[in-house]
Amino acid sequence: MTLKTVRLDTSHNREDFYCGKDPLDSYLKKQVTQDVKRKLSACFVLEGDNHTVKGYYTLSNDSVPLAIVPEEIKRKMPASYVNLPTTLLGRLAVDTRFHGQGFGALLLMDALHRCFLLSEQIGSMAVIVDPLDHGAAAFYVQYGFIALESGRMFLPMKTVASLF
Ligand SMILES: CC(C)(COP(=O)(O)OP(=O)(O)OC[C@H]1O[C@@H](n2cnc3c(N)ncnc32)[C@H](O)[C@@H]1OP(=O)(O)O)[C@@H](O)C(=O)NCCC(=O)NCCS
Repeated sequence: MTLKTVRLDTSHNREDFYCGKDPLDSYLKKQVTQDVKRKLSACFVLEGDNHTVKGYYTLSNDSVPLAIVPEEIKRKMPASYVNLPTTLLGRLAVDTRFHGQGFGALLLMDALHRCFLLSEQIGSMAVIVDPLDHGAAAFYVQYGFIALESGRMFLPMKTVASLF
């Protein structure tokens, strides 16, 4: 199965979106447009019929302190870097009507591919997620994300590159 995501725009009907996690539903309905306008995030959606949103994700530039990355990665980084450039996969959600049909995995792969392409233009050595709860963390662990002590999760861009 392949999937095409597009940038969120004013034609999309966000009102009916329901993924079961209120912060992710509210974000799409109330905040994302402002965040995109302010260049705080970019939002990509998987469109359903009649401009509905089957799923969405957001990306932003980010960084993590060198001190908190896994030891085997830290060893290979120049000690002069206090923070390492990364890309934040801030949110990822699928409407409950489409759960369990592979769309979450496909959206994640689409996001990772975009992160990889962007890392060739602007340095980014990992993709970071902030899982909302244990269920979300379990979802990301399956794809190789490593939990950091801070609760954030980390996928080296080297691993992402090997997927494509
Ligand atoms: C997490 C979420 C995106 C998964 O979407 P989905 O379309 O149902 O997932 P898929 O059908 O693509 O499943 C892909 C794999 O993830 C697993 N999975 C799905 N939801 C999961 C969860 N909550 N916890 C652990 N694993 C999960 C599936 O079993 C499947 O594994 P398999 O390939 O071994 O069968 C979706 O449940 C969702 O939107 N949840 C609410 C928002 C959320 O928690 N987002 C997480 C980021 S903050």
